[in-house]
Amino acid sequence: MTEPREQPFSTEIQAADAPGALGRAAELLGQAQLVALPTETVYGLAADARSAGAVSRIFEAKGRPAGNPLIVHVDSVEMAQRCVAAWPSAAGKLTKAFWPGPLSLVLPKAGLIPDIVTAAGATVAVRAPAHPVMRGVLAECGFPLAAPSANRSCHVSPTRAEHVVDQLGGRIPLVLDAGPCAVGIESTVLDLTGDTPTILRPGSISLGQLQSVLGQVETAGPATDTGPAKSPGQLSRHYSPRAKLILGSDPTAALGQADETTHIIAREPAPSAWQGGQWHQLPDDPDGFAKELYNTLHRCDRAGAGLIQVQLLPDGPEWDALRDRLNRASAGV
Ligand code: TXA
Ligand code: MG
Repeated sequence: MTEPREQPFSTEIQAADAPGALGRAAELLGQAQLVALPTETVYGLAADARSAGAVSRIFEAKGRPAGNPLIVHVDSVEMAQRCVAAWPSAAGKLTKAFWPGPLSLVLPKAGLIPDIVTAAGATVAVRAPAHPVMRGVLAECGFPLAAPSANRSCHVSPTRAEHVVDQLGGRIPLVLDAGPCAVGIESTVLDLTGDTPTILRPGSISLGQLQSVLGQVETAGPATDTGPAKSPGQLSRHYSPRAKLILGSDPTAALGQADETTHIIAREPAPSAWQGGQWHQLPDDPDGFAKELYNTLHRCDRAGAGLIQVQLLPDGPEWDALRDRLNRASAGV
C-alpha cells in the first residue's frame, strides 16, 4: 500500500466575502473534501460530520491520533438535536444563554454521527459557532460539520488564515479568509453526561458563567498522560509552538542572556535597558491577551524563535483558560 501524498493540493486562500466563496466551500464539503473556515474562537478544519470518509481526511491532514474526538459544528439547536441521543434540560438552558458561541456540549451521540468523529466513544461534542462565515457555510450545507482547530496535531491553533496555510498548506484544497478571530482561544468544552456538569477544557465561557445558569458545575481534575483520557485535548503537552516555551514571573529574567532567537511575551513594555531578544507586549486584560496570544506564538515560530519566555499570568478565574493553554504549551519541555 502506498502512503498518502503529503502535499496533494495547491491550497487556495479565498476571501470569505468574495462572491460565491461560501458556496464554493459548501460544494467541496458536499464532495467529502476539507475546507478550513473561520470561527469566532480559532480557524477550524471542516468536513461533513456524517461522512466517515470525509472525516478520515481530517485525521490524515492534521496527523491527529484516532483516539482524539472532534467537535461537531451546527447552526441551530435542531441540527444539534439530530447529532445527539439525549437533550437534557441543562443543554436547553445553556444553548439559550450561550449559543451561538464558544461553548461545546458533550452529550450521548446519535447514529447520524459515525464512530470516527467520536473516537469510537458514546458521546459527541456539539457547538453552534457565532462566526457569520461558519454559520453561512453551515446554512448552505444543511448538514453538521466536524471541525477541529486547523493546525497540525499538538501545535498552536490558527487565529488567521495564514497560520492555517503555514501548517496545512498543500494538505487541503481551500481556506476561507475572514481575518483574525475575535476570541482567539478554543471553546469551553462542558461534559453533560455525568451527574454534575464538568468542564473538560476551560475557555472564554467561564466556570462562573456556567454556574450562573446551571448552579453546580465542576472542573475536571488534572489529566494524566497514562490513564484513559476523558478529553484527549487535556493531555498535558498540547497547543505548543515549535520553540521551547517557558513560564516565568520575571519577564526580564533573560536580560543579558537573550540572543536574537529569544522571544519574550509580557503584559508590560520592555525595560529601557532591554537588549537582545524580541519583546512582544500583549494586552493586560484576558480578552485582549487571548485575542493576540496564538498570533504571537505563530510569529515567534515564523521568526525561528529558539526560546519563548512568557510572563506568568495573574491569579484569578478570568485567566483560567489562558493559564491552561500556556501550561500545556510549556509542558514537557
Ligand atoms: O473553539 C473550538 O472548539 C475549535 C473551533 C474550530 O470550533 N475547535 C477545537 O477543536 O478546538 P479541537 O478538535 O482542536 O479540540 C476539541 C477538544 C479536544 O480537547 C477533544 O478531546 C475534545 O474537544 N472533545 C471532542 N469531543 C469530545 C467528546 N465526545 N468527549 C470529550 N471530549 C471531547
Ligand atoms: Mg485543537
